[in-house]
Amino acid sequence: MSENAARKLVSNNAVLYLPDGQTIELPVITGSENEKAIDISKLRSQTGHITMDPGYGNTGSCQSKITFLNGEKGILRYRGIPIEQLAGKARFTEVAYLIIYGKLPNQQELDAFRDSLNHHALLHEDMKHFFSSFSGQAHPMAILSAMVASLSGYYGEASEVEGIDDPDMNAARLISKIRTLAAFSYKKSIGQPFIYPKDSLSYCANFLRMMFAVPARDYEPDPVVVEALNLLLILHADHEQNCSTATVRTVASSHASLFASISAGILALWGPLHGGANQKVIEMLERIRADGGDITKYIEMAKDKNSGFRLMGFGHRVYKNFDPRATVIKNACDKVLDKLGIHDPVLDLAKQMEEVAVSDDYFVERKLYPNVDFYSGIIYRAIGIPANMFTVMFALGRLPGWIGQWKELMDDPTHRITRPRQIYQGQTAVDYVPIEKRT
Ligand code: SDX
Repeated sequence: MSENAARKLVSNNAVLYLPDGQTIELPVITGSENEKAIDISKLRSQTGHITMDPGYGNTGSCQSKITFLNGEKGILRYRGIPIEQLAGKARFTEVAYLIIYGKLPNQQELDAFRDSLNHHALLHEDMKHFFSSFSGQAHPMAILSAMVASLSGYYGEASEVEGIDDPDMNAARLISKIRTLAAFSYKKSIGQPFIYPKDSLSYCANFLRMMFAVPARDYEPDPVVVEALNLLLILHADHEQNCSTATVRTVASSHASLFASISAGILALWGPLHGGANQKVIEMLERIRADGGDITKYIEMAKDKNSGFRLMGFGHRVYKNFDPRATVIKNACDKVLDKLGIHDPVLDLAKQMEEVAVSDDYFVERKLYPNVDFYSGIIYRAIGIPANMFTVMFALGRLPGWIGQWKELMDDPTHRITRPRQIYQGQTAVDYVPIEKRT
C-alpha cells in the first residue's frame, strides 16, 4: 500500500490527486447527523484549482444549527423537532421563536414575544400612501418586497448593520408588519379600505381579520381557517439553504440591512421554480380542468422536453422521496375542505395527477414527487386567499427562517462576503480596434 494511501486510512482528511501531479489533503467536516463535507477553503491557494458546481447541488455554503432535512428519507426538523409534531401541536409564533432563538419559548418568553409582535403591527402612517403608487396590475410579491425594503427608511440605519438599533426588535417588526403589508396590498387590489391590526387576536386570526373584515360589519375568523393557516405557516417556516434563504444570506454577507436582505429573499422566492410554484400549480390544475381534465395528456407533455410544460409542484433539488410537508398538507386538504363544507374538483384532479405521476417511469426514475407547493394552494383557496397572494403566504411562513438564518450568519464572527469564483471561457487577450478599422 502506498504511503499516501496509508496516510489516507489514518487521517480523517480527503486526499485529492490532481492531473498535474499535485496532491492535497482536505479536512472532512462531519455534521451532528453524520453528514460529510470536504472543506475546500484552502484548495485554490494551495493548488490554483477551484471547484465547479452550477446550482450548488453538491456545495455547502455554511454550517447551520437551524434546520435538518434528509431528502432521501423525507425528514424535516426545526432545531431537532420533527415538523409533523410542530404542525400538530405548536402555534406559529412558538415556531418562529424556536427557529430564530434556538429553543421553544416558555410562557413568559412567548408572552413577551407576542406583546412585541402586537406592539409592532402598525405601519408608519406615511407608508399607507405607498400603496396608491403601485399600478393595479402590480403583483403582490413586487409590492411586498418594495414595502419591506422601505421599512429600512423608518427603522434602524438602512446601510449600517453595526448601527441597526436592535436585531430582535427588527425581527419582531418584520414578522408582525409583513402581515399588515400583505393584507393592505390585498385590500388595495380589491379596492377595499385597510383594516388595522387588533392586538386581542392571535397572529393568524389578526391577519385573517385584516384580509377579510370590512368596516360595515363585524368579523370573527373561523377557527377552522385559523388552524389551517397556522399549519401552513409552520410548514413553510424554514428549509435550510433553499434559493431564497441563500439569497438572504448573500445579501446579509455584504452587511446590507435585515430589511434589504429579506426584501431580496422575497424576490427570489417569487420565481416559479421556487415559491412562485404554488400559484403556478393552481393555474396548471385549472388549465387541465378547463381542458377536460385529461391528466395523461399533461403528464406526457411534462415528460416531453420540447413541450415547455413542467408539472408544477413536482420535483425537488433535495427531496428524492416524498416532501414531508406535502404529505401533511395533502392530509390537511381533506380535513379543512370537509370542515368548511367545500368540494374542490381541483383537489380530486391533483390527487389523480399524483397517482398517475408517481407510478410513471419518467417521474420514478428522476425521483420526482409532489413538493410543498403541490397541495398548499388548494387550502389557501379554500380559506379565501386569491392565487396571486399564494406566494405572499409562503413568504409570511418563511420569514422566521430567513430571519433565523440572517441572525446565524451575522452572529458568526468568521462570516465572509459571498463571492463565488468562475472559470473564464471567453475571448483571450486582444487589442482595441479603432472604429474606422472595424468591419
Ligand atoms: C420550493 O430548495 C428548497 O428547499 C425549495 C423549497 C423550500 O421550502 O424553500 O422546498 C420550496 O421551491 C419547492 C419547488 C417548487 N418548484 C416547482 O414545483 C417547479 C417544478 N419543479 C422543477 O422545476 C424542479 O423540480 C425544481 C426546480 C424544483 C428542482 O430542479 P433541479 O433540482 O435543478 O432539477 P432539474 O431541473 O435538473 O430536473 C432533473 C430532471 C430533469 O430531467 P432530465 O434532464 O434529467 O431528463 O427532472 C426533470 C428535469 O427535466 N424534472 C421535471 C420536473 N422537475 C424536474 N420534469 C417535469 N416536471 C417537473 N416538475
